[in-house]
Amino acid sequence: MQIIGFNGSPRKSGNTSTILGAVLKGAEEAGAETTEVRIHDINMKGCMGCLSCRTKPGVCAQKDDLSPFLEAIKTADGIVMGAPIYMFRMAGQIKLLVDRMYSLYTPKEGPGYGSAVPPGKTFAMVISQGADNTDQYLRSARWLAGMGGTGFGMEDVGYIIQGGNATTVGTGMGRDDDATKVIKSGSAAGPIKDNAEVMAEALALGRRLIKK
Ligand SMILES: Cc1cc2nc3c(=O)[nH]c(=O)nc-3n(C[C@H](O)[C@H](O)[C@H](O)COP(=O)(O)O)c2cc1C
Repeated sequence: MQIIGFNGSPRKSGNTSTILGAVLKGAEEAGAETTEVRIHDINMKGCMGCLSCRTKPGVCAQKDDLSPFLEAIKTADGIVMGAPIYMFRMAGQIKLLVDRMYSLYTPKEGPGYGSAVPPGKTFAMVISQGADNTDQYLRSARWLAGMGGTGFGMEDVGYIIQGGNATTVGTGMGRDDDATKVIKSGSAAGPIKDNAEVMAEALALGRRLIKK
């Protein structure tokens, strides 16, 4: 079992990294091997718009440190993406990744896209923001879960949105049966690593990435 964590936060000890790290630990406890890709720390460029992936589906012509991880998405059992909110949207680091993932969307007859990612994979998401209202950037969150996960046919097993004074955990972004829970957290309640309830939810989310 292989789980890849794509970390869009530049801060190694920040909230995204802390929660994402616990998600990966949960996956390991469930028997997975995990790899964390710190997007900010690898030599990676954005999509160059060459559209060669339209004639060679599943292959990104931009060759850099991201290339092996784009390939690894096809063989991994699941992925988790994490990012902070910068300037009212997902941080640019994660946008660069999702743009490059266009190469994994394949042309097909009729509307929409096919997927170069084989079926049966899981997807989870971690978002960290300063704002108290964890609904504030839901549109961005739905975008990330959709374009980075479910659009490829991955099963969304849940998310954690950590805000200024509360953290919302859910079972699947945009799903009708999404069951959410709000945990008091943030600056008033101390650093997120010291919030046992959020950390327990992160471990549980990691375990859900592994399908029995
Ligand atoms: C450049 C920048 C822009 C930010 N913009 C927002 C924003 O628009 N909305 C918000 O709620 N928080 C914003 N924040 C706060 C971060 O989302 C917040 O501190 C988050 O916890 C950082 O995640 P990290 O600990 O993983 O680095 C911004 C932070 C930075 C550095």
